[in-house]
Formats: sequence, structure tokens, C-alpha cells
Amino acid sequence: MNSRLATLILCAVSLTCSTANTQAVTPSAPPALVLGAAWYPEQWPESRWDADLDLMQKAGITMVRVGEFAWSRMEPSDGHYDLDWLDNAVTAAGRHGIYTVIGTPSAAPPAWLTQKYPETLRTLEDGRKDQHGNRQQFNWANPKYRQLSRGMAEQLAKRFGHNPWVIGWQIDNEYANVSFDDATKAQFQDWLKARYSTLDNLNARWTTSYWSETYSNWNQVPIETKYGNPGLLLSWMRFVSDTWRSYQKNQTEVIRANSEPRQFITTNMMGWFDGYDHYTVSQDLDLASWDDYVGQGQLDPYRNGAAHDLTRGFLRKNFWVMETQPGFVNWQKINNSLDKGEVRAMAWHAIGHGADAVSYWQWRSALNGQEQYHGTLVGPDGTPVPLYTEVAQLGAEFAKAAPALAGTSVKSDVAILHSYDSRWAINWQRHNTNYDPVSEIVSYYKPLRDLSQSVDIVSPSVSLTQYKLVVAPGLNVLSDAEAKNLIAYVEQGGNLVLGQRTAMKDADNTLQTQRQPGPLASILGGRVEQYYALTDPIPVYGAWTEGSKPTGNKTVATKTAATSSDWAELLSTQSPDTKVLLRFGKSNGWLDDQPAAITRKVGKGSITYIGAYLDPTTMTKAAKWMLDISHVQPKLGKLPEGIDVYPREGPNGKVYILVNFNKSPQTITLPTPMQDILNGGTKTTLTLPTYGVSVLSTQ
Ligand code: GLA
Repeated sequence: MNSRLATLILCAVSLTCSTANTQAVTPSAPPALVLGAAWYPEQWPESRWDADLDLMQKAGITMVRVGEFAWSRMEPSDGHYDLDWLDNAVTAAGRHGIYTVIGTPSAAPPAWLTQKYPETLRTLEDGRKDQHGNRQQFNWANPKYRQLSRGMAEQLAKRFGHNPWVIGWQIDNEYANVSFDDATKAQFQDWLKARYSTLDNLNARWTTSYWSETYSNWNQVPIETKYGNPGLLLSWMRFVSDTWRSYQKNQTEVIRANSEPRQFITTNMMGWFDGYDHYTVSQDLDLASWDDYVGQGQLDPYRNGAAHDLTRGFLRKNFWVMETQPGFVNWQKINNSLDKGEVRAMAWHAIGHGADAVSYWQWRSALNGQEQYHGTLVGPDGTPVPLYTEVAQLGAEFAKAAPALAGTSVKSDVAILHSYDSRWAINWQRHNTNYDPVSEIVSYYKPLRDLSQSVDIVSPSVSLTQYKLVVAPGLNVLSDAEAKNLIAYVEQGGNLVLGQRTAMKDADNTLQTQRQPGPLASILGGRVEQYYALTDPIPVYGAWTEGSKPTGNKTVATKTAATSSDWAELLSTQSPDTKVLLRFGKSNGWLDDQPAAITRKVGKGSITYIGAYLDPTTMTKAAKWMLDISHVQPKLGKLPEGIDVYPREGPNGKVYILVNFNKSPQTITLPTPMQDILNGGTKTTLTLPTYGVSVLSTQ
């Protein structure tokens, strides 16, 4: 441990250190790596603030997010605003060199508002009205609620839009709950009218002649969320997404009109949560951010890492972790703590995936309220909990590494395509209850990340030309424009791999009249003859299942017990140059020895279809094959298993963040000597303990 860190930790623990600067400070640009905490000054007397901010400063915290549930304090009665306390809090934080992100408080409307404007309450799907006492009880489509939340956001923007310590805005908090009232239903019907123009068109595209669903008046169209017509289900989710977008815009407009462009606008999203289309909602934001919680268990670097990459893909640039757990949460069945060292490893894992900020929820528990048991950085007595020192270590490390990481971002040769339409469509009709579209994505992601060391996750509508390899694990719903995008990518020399259930549906969630993969079947020179939900894994054999192992002084050929689980698609080749890579073994008769994966070269590019849900070993071999044909090399070279590397690149060179997720120490030999940013010196080998982190630079 270096001496500065030792001093910081000592200061933090003893509370007697006088290094904190409580004089007025003039803000410079915020640091390139931000360490933050959710702070609720409204819950504490002003006389306590300096003690908290002092502790934060000593831990290297450089940002507080405030305000997102403080509406009753900001507007104690209708039209009477009180923002002096918040101004004082922002100023007090600034005195400690701490920047502020202001959350608009619309996720928690005050009791007077609900009482005076009961029409702003949301209606649950079973018809009951929500009530005051929790949060997110508002109706996101209600005009009165929008007027009131816009008024509040405007007051905040007018007051803080030019405050030098305020660096950004968070709109609301974790958009999630929607409303099923009649007025919202009427809005949905208007939305349908705008999209489909005529009922004849809607009826045709949804095939409403089925079960007498035909509509003769727009006001007959119901809301369905689970077992309705697939066209109706998809339209409702698109309406929900558009309505979140307009809900957000209602506030961003008044903030933009009253603030400086240097202040970003974001909202805190929730990783894999699929309650709305995040691509739709992100497009009006300056920054994507998300709330990164493990909940029960330990960090899964893959599923969690893929969620970081997903968030980075919303705006295709660096993002923020706006909330993460200080050890543990309070909303799981077992709220275990992360291990000692794991919180720090998790923070660096986030930075490696392209986060420029990691912020803990929360600094200190409210003494009362629904979340008394949640992890914090200080206890109810206002002094540090054991985790504080680990976070203080991070604070010192962020300060050290910020210059090297400034201006760097993640650059990948490999992209995985992800679409909400497809995830929803599969989830509404899984056909095999075990078929989870996110797990399918992660099954591809894991070996592709291990072997290439960097993967983007993006929407199928973005330009793909920068990628050597594009993998689409479950693109069940494919619009004509997306299909054109994929075909152009292959024709221009890209390597495209399609996973199961690809392009079964068009943009209305209607079955394609061409067999899977629909508009991509012709370029593939092959198609899906039939799909089969599986009760048990079935064997597969071919290109990715042959192995060899040394026995005595000979190497013998082996066959791995390769399988497809949950799902199998019987493929056929329709073109002489489409080759079979993999076949199903003996199973239900229909599948026996039939193609399970096929591929075709197209100019300099290729297109491949994998109709099997491969076991992890076979998937790793398939991933290696995909990367080989695409000429993708690992960014840093071979590393011991369980050592994750996260490359970030900038104009001045590359930075590699390494984390050891093994249960034992690992020694790593680097391909070239690199600067050790955290410990100093130049390294060619290094040993990392469990949860050990290294930040290496080529600069
Ligand atoms: C969410 C919310 C926070 C808090 C945390 C607890 O992320 O945004 O307000 O409730 O969960 O884990």
C-alpha cells in the first residue's frame, strides 16, 4: 500500500485527519474517472452535511447524486418551491471538491400531489389504483403528471442549470411502472392509428381474422401484455417505450432550455430489464447509465459484463454506473455481502467495460424508510462501515488512473446483436419454458469475450462496418431495414453468425412467409426446415466436436459429448456452396444426422446459421472458429483462465485493466513491458491475488 493511500485510509477511519479542504474551491473539469455516492441531504440536518462530505472527500468520492426522491422537500405544497436547501447542499459538496448530479424527483411524487390530483396515480393491470406510500405510483402517460413533473424539473434547471458544481442531470429513477387506465388505453389506440393509418392495415398485419379479433373501431383494441395477439403485444411495448421517451422528453426539454450544454442528461437504467426499448429511450440522452446490482450471490463477470456492454451500446460510447451495491442489497431472498475485495474488483470490471463513473447506493441509510437494511458506506451512527476503506482505496486508485484512462474507450472487432423486439417475442412464446433469450446471448458472449477480449452489444439497426464478426444469437423479429443492414454487411465482407430462432417474424411480430431466416435465407443458401423444443439435451457432431488428447506417446482423436439443449433446428442447404458444419446425432428421428449448423462464403465475407443451443465446451470451439474465419485476435494475447482483461484505447495508447476472478493467485506474463499505473514501474510479469486488479498502460 502506498503512503498516500495509507494516509487516506487512516484519515477515513480515525476521522481526525485535517487534510479535507472545506474552503470554497473553484471547480475545474470533473475527473475522467468519477467515484460517487447517492446522498440524501434532505434526510439529515444541515449541521451534519460537512461531516458526511468530509468523509466522502477523504474516500476520494468526487460526485454525489442528489434529489431524485426529494419532491416533497423541493415543493412542499402546490407551486411553492424550496430549493435553498439543495443549493446549500450543492455548495457544501463543492467546498469538498465534490460535483453534483441532480436527479429530477418525479419517481416519488409528494402526498399532497396525489391527494390533490388523484388522476395522476397509475392504474394497475388488474384495474386497482396505486396509492401513496411507496414510489413510482404515478401514471407516466398522464398529462397532469407531466405538467407537474415538468414544472418541478424547470425550477431545478433554472436554479442549477448554470451552477459550476452541477455536472449533470438524471431524469426520474429506473423507469418501470406503467398504467392501464382508460385514458392511457385511448392514447395507445391513437398511437396505433398513427402507426397503421387504417384498421384494414392493422387487421391484415396482425391477422385478426384469427379468433374473430378483427377490429371495426380503434376503440375496440385492448391492452394485452402476456397472451394477446403477438402484433398487439409488440405494439403495446413499443407504445410503452415511446411513452417513456416522451415522458423523459417532457423534462429534458425544460432542462436543456435552462442549462449549460456541458451538463449531461441521463437516466439510470437497469441492465437486462426489458420493460421498454432502451434504444428508443436512450436516443435523447447525452449519456447512458445503469444501476449495477449483483443482488444474491457473487459477481458473474460475464452476465454482468455483458450488461455493461449492452449499456455501452445504447449510445455506443462510455457510460456511467449510476448506482451499485456497497457490499449488499436488501431486496433479495438472501442479501449476502460481496467478498472482501470483490467490490473493488467489480468497480474496475465496470471501468474496464467502458464506465467512466462508479457510484454507490447509498452513502448512509435513512433512519427510517423501506431500505433500512441496505448496504451503505457509513452506518446509522455516521461513521465508516468496514467497506469504507475498500472504497477509499478505489478513490485513491481512480485518482491515479484517471490521466491514463482519460479519452479512452472500448474498441471491439466483435459485435453481438441484441433487440428488445426479439427478446419480447421469444419471451411471450418461449415454446420451451427454459429458453431464456438473455442466457442464449450470454452463452455466445462468454467464449467470444474470453477469446477476443472485447465485445460490443448493439442494435441490429446500427452500421456494422467496423466489425470483423457480427453474431446474432436470437434475432427472432427482424424488420426489412435490419435485414438489409445485415445483408449489406455480409456483402461488404463481414462475417455474420445467426443463432437459433432468427428471423422467424417480421416487424409486426407476424410469421415470415419465407422459412427462417426469412429475408436472410437466400444469402445463406439454406433454411430451417423445422424447429423442435427439447426435453433433454441431444448429441451434435461435426466441426466443433472433434478433439484430440495425448495418450501415452500417441495423440488420439476423441469425440466430446457435444449437445444441443432446449432447442434444435433442423437445417437444410439450398445452395451447393453452403456447407454443413455440424449435425444432430441420434435423437427424435426427425433430427438424426440432419444439419445443425451451416455456413456459406459470400465474397470476402460469410454467413453462418447455428440451429443448436450448444453446450459450453462446444460453444467455445464454435466461437474460436468464428473468430478464426474473421481474423480476430485476442487484444492482449493468451491469459490464464479466470483472468479477465478489459482493453480501453485512446489517442495516446492502450490501457489494459486486469482482474483475477479465480479463487487462487495467478501469474501473468505480458507480451510487452507495460507501465503499472496503480503500483508504479514497468512490468512484464505480475501476480494477482483473488480479486486482484492491475491497470497497465502502453503509453
Ligand atoms: C434501485 C433504486 C435505488 C435503491 C436501490 C436499492 O436501484 O434506484 O433508489 O432503491 O435500488 O438497491
